Amino acid sequence: MGNRTLAILKPDSVRKNHIGDIIKMILQAGFKIKGMKMIKMTKESAKVFYFIHKDRAFYNDLVEYMTSGHCIPMALEKENAVTEFRKLIGATDPTQADEGTVRKLYAKDKAENAVHGSDSDDNAEIEIAHFFSTQELI
Ligand code: CMP
Repeated sequence: MGNRTLAILKPDSVRKNHIGDIIKMILQAGFKIKGMKMIKMTKESAKVFYFIHKDRAFYNDLVEYMTSGHCIPMALEKENAVTEFRKLIGATDPTQADEGTVRKLYAKDKAENAVHGSDSDDNAEIEIAHFFSTQELI
């Protein structure tokens, strides 16, 4: 099991001032923040990041949403980080998310769902490298 994952506090979380509460949940769940920055993704960066979804009907809307404001990518460390973080954030669709999860508390719907979490150890490393150089990581 890997010990790193990539989280993004998405533009809706930044706009609604939920970032402090979400970061608190992440720290209280035992994750260490190894890298963090606030950025506005370019269209090119968002298209590459979500390339796996390029054939999905929601791809263009997803790129628009992710570039609609600032977001906060974070490199997180914990044992079994990918699975543990996905437990903390809950299902993509907040109506399906468990009580007390980040998405249950803060997501609007399947699209504007407050946070991103990597879905595998391999993708976690690719996604961390998408946002962070080695010098930017503790
Ligand atoms: P994320 O975990 O970042 O991974 C892919 C993103 O695509 C997802 O969160 C949502 O923001 C978005 N997404 C996934 N499924 C749908 C859907 N059915 N409709 C709209 N957006 C979606």
